[in-house]
Amino acid sequence: MAKQKKQPDVMDQIVSLCKRRGFIFQSSEIYGGFSSCWDYGPLGSELKRNVKDAWWNAVVRNREDVVGIDCSILMHPRIWEASGHVEGFTDPLVDCKECKKRFRADDLDDPHHCPECGGELTEARQFNLMFKTFMGPVEDQAAVCYLRPETAQGIFANFENVATSARLKVPFGIAQIGKSFRNEITPGNFIFRTREFEQMEIEFFCKPGTDTEWYEHWKAERFQWYLDLGVNPDKLRQRDHAPDELAHYAKACVDVEYEFPFGWSELEGVANRTDYDLGRHQEYSGRDLQYFDDATRERYLPYVIEPSAGVDRSLLTFLVDAYDEVVTEEGKTERFLRLHPRLAPIKVAIFPLVRKDGMPEVAKQIFHDLKKRFPCFYDERGAVGRRYRRQDETGTPFCVTVDGQTLEDHTVTVRYRDSREQPRVAIADLAPFIAEQLAAATSARI
Ligand code: GAP
Repeated sequence: MAKQKKQPDVMDQIVSLCKRRGFIFQSSEIYGGFSSCWDYGPLGSELKRNVKDAWWNAVVRNREDVVGIDCSILMHPRIWEASGHVEGFTDPLVDCKECKKRFRADDLDDPHHCPECGGELTEARQFNLMFKTFMGPVEDQAAVCYLRPETAQGIFANFENVATSARLKVPFGIAQIGKSFRNEITPGNFIFRTREFEQMEIEFFCKPGTDTEWYEHWKAERFQWYLDLGVNPDKLRQRDHAPDELAHYAKACVDVEYEFPFGWSELEGVANRTDYDLGRHQEYSGRDLQYFDDATRERYLPYVIEPSAGVDRSLLTFLVDAYDEVVTEEGKTERFLRLHPRLAPIKVAIFPLVRKDGMPEVAKQIFHDLKKRFPCFYDERGAVGRRYRRQDETGTPFCVTVDGQTLEDHTVTVRYRDSREQPRVAIADLAPFIAEQLAAATSARI
């Protein structure tokens, strides 16, 4: 079979596959869709859960120095004053006077002319990206609150609660996964930039002076996570921010970037945020947030290293990286999602070769036994070749088929998605066999 190079319309192919197979749908589609909002379907929600679990395992469960938290999305509005978001979380917005389209001024090569119609652009004005709402029934200034634009501030606001209740000693981290909202001027590229998205963030608190060492530690850890999940290393890179690119509070920052069909783009940032956030919350709340070190009797505000990733962007990376097209000798294009087995929504699909001779009964029994241990799928409809193709598109790493020989010797074929090998395995050995294959493909860290 000849391997075909990925085509430039690969994003369209992926969006179409995501809809066809139930990974991702346009939100509110029956009403014509709702701009930049997406819904995760049966397979997409499993994939998303697997992405989040692989992150949580790597940064919380498999470490001794990081704990989790799950904060509310609505928080005291003073938090966003302290964090600087009320004043400074803005993008420069310009409008075209002709076609009325809106753009981020910093995305444009020509600041005066519309990239779409060539019309004259307005002067840039600063547009705050936070979604505003009201707490309670009265819609006045006193009731204004915001949908959080990042999960990080809930962690800073709970620094003292978590440190005290979990009896943590610096250095330690607090991790959180949750929804964030930004009223982006130009959302786009499918789920890459949306107005509602999910983040996976760690605030790692360390003693000033040890921050550079921890920054390097997290830089390496977070890069390795994508590699552990099978992302092509040639398409992944780290890009250090130049000094003039750094946020005013950051001492250093690196972006983890992936080469998407639309170019190299950021998946995750790792930043040294110094003691900026705790200092600001201390000032705005009036609470002493210093850490007291029993051993040295020192009192200080810890420095913070922040690895901040997007769930949806990671998921898009895994989808794009796993997508593959193969043209058969008959000229047909077959599509694959070569997802890492840790991420695959379905681990094993079980088929009877044909719907007769007692094969469905044996296959169903195998399905019921295996699904106690792995996410499984049973299918007996249509030609078996079609059923394999469907699972290849879904990313299922193993297909188990009950055939004529099964009825004689109690063995089945296990078809590997990527190598297409089909060893025969005894039904009695199937569960340990699959478990072994999955374990062999998966680093213990994820
Ligand atoms: N607390 C730091 C922070 O939020 P950020 O670089 O603004 O930093 C971190 O965001 C990550 O969140 C990004 O690397 C990206 O993966 C994700 N993210 C940010 N804005 C997003 C958007 N509009 N849509 C999808 N993901 C987004």
